[in-house]
Amino acid sequence: MDKIVVQGGERLTGEVRISGAKNAALPIMAATLLTPGKFVLSNVPRLRDVVTMEHVLRVLGAQVEHHDHSITVDTTNCRYHEAPYELVKTMRASVCVLGPVLARQGRARVSLPGGCAWGPRPVDFHIKAMRDLGADIEFEHGYIVAEARRLRGATINFETSSVGATENAMMAASLADGKTVIQNAAREPEIGALADFLRSMGSNITGDGTGTITIEGADELHPADVRVIPDRIETGTFMAAAAITGGDILIMGGELDHCATVASKLKEAGVEIIPVEDGIRVRGPERIKSINVTTAPYPGFPTDMQAQIMAVMTIGQGSAVITDTIYTDRFSHVPELRRLGADITIDRNVAVISGVDHLSGAMVMATDLRASAALILAGLVAEGTTEVSRVYHIDRGYEAIEKKLSGLGAKIWRESEN
Ligand code: UD1
Repeated sequence: MDKIVVQGGERLTGEVRISGAKNAALPIMAATLLTPGKFVLSNVPRLRDVVTMEHVLRVLGAQVEHHDHSITVDTTNCRYHEAPYELVKTMRASVCVLGPVLARQGRARVSLPGGCAWGPRPVDFHIKAMRDLGADIEFEHGYIVAEARRLRGATINFETSSVGATENAMMAASLADGKTVIQNAAREPEIGALADFLRSMGSNITGDGTGTITIEGADELHPADVRVIPDRIETGTFMAAAAITGGDILIMGGELDHCATVASKLKEAGVEIIPVEDGIRVRGPERIKSINVTTAPYPGFPTDMQAQIMAVMTIGQGSAVITDTIYTDRFSHVPELRRLGADITIDRNVAVISGVDHLSGAMVMATDLRASAALILAGLVAEGTTEVSRVYHIDRGYEAIEKKLSGLGAKIWRESEN
């Protein structure tokens, strides 16, 4: 296992390039299962979650090859319909193969994902969507077993907006008989990216980006090529890195529109954010002002940036209140940030962070993907050395983060843990 070592105190300067979005790439990879043929996906980040999805596609019969940041998927011989526990348990997003496999093959067996580092995260909305589209669903030996000779268009009303369930419904409805209306649909940019891809495959989708998405089912779809959108969470994380170090960096390829709420919160904290050609310039202040943040579905502040903004607030002037309304116990980074000297109290899903003058380096443990990013950010300003162990979490969602940060002048490297 690897660990990341950071020697704090360097102000970040220079340029960094943003990779393709993990959360856009994964459902797009699943969507290739809808129809036989060869697809080329470019700007795909080389991440552990992408490799896991490649395995999922392979066990379903696809041929997958990757070359640098492109993936070729050939779904001509996809005749298997089971996504096994061994893969789904390592990545919950594997459940997004349910809709496309069911719609194309008339049946799907997908393992229930099980628990997560931050709570139960059920898949009931995914199942409700498939049932609304006319599928018979049973649960057997830890698997969702879905059957439908042909799905029928329907109105699907989600009680809470869900990114993954909206994606599964959009994919399945693209091959259903008739019209589907998804109410209270998620509006994240990754939904728009999937809709664009499905349209290029011949699906008739409108309304993505709003709370109501309409899909006229097609009799057949065809393969298409796609370029994955930039990762807004990686972009936000580098904005946070400039903020916390009082740095001045150019984030190239980042889409500011997709990070508008994060940008406006950072501005409130005293950070300068300036759009430039093909990127964003971010200049951190001498001292961060503490601000309050509440996570919400897009266009609200993303839960996937909650840990990173908390890291920034640990050295803020004043007190910050951070509330996560999406997940009620996504605070596993808090005890680790405290080991670095942060002053944080938690009451259920609300954290109060009293800014301290400085953090001090320590050994800490990454507990999940975004928590690891928060610990690295804190390590960038902590006095002395911070060692973040269990960095396999960060490899799920950040491409070469230590290389990108050292390119900006951080003293950071990877070592193998003994
Ligand atoms: C996606 C993102 C993840 C992000 C999350 C919230 C991907 C691959 N992952 O996850 O990084 O943290 O959005 O922005 O895109 N819920 C249910 N039942 C369900 C589904 C969801 O109760 O069947 C709840 C969840 O527990 C959560 C809320 O709905 O409280 C939103 O979750 P959802 O948008 O579905 O998250 P994911 O798609 O899993």
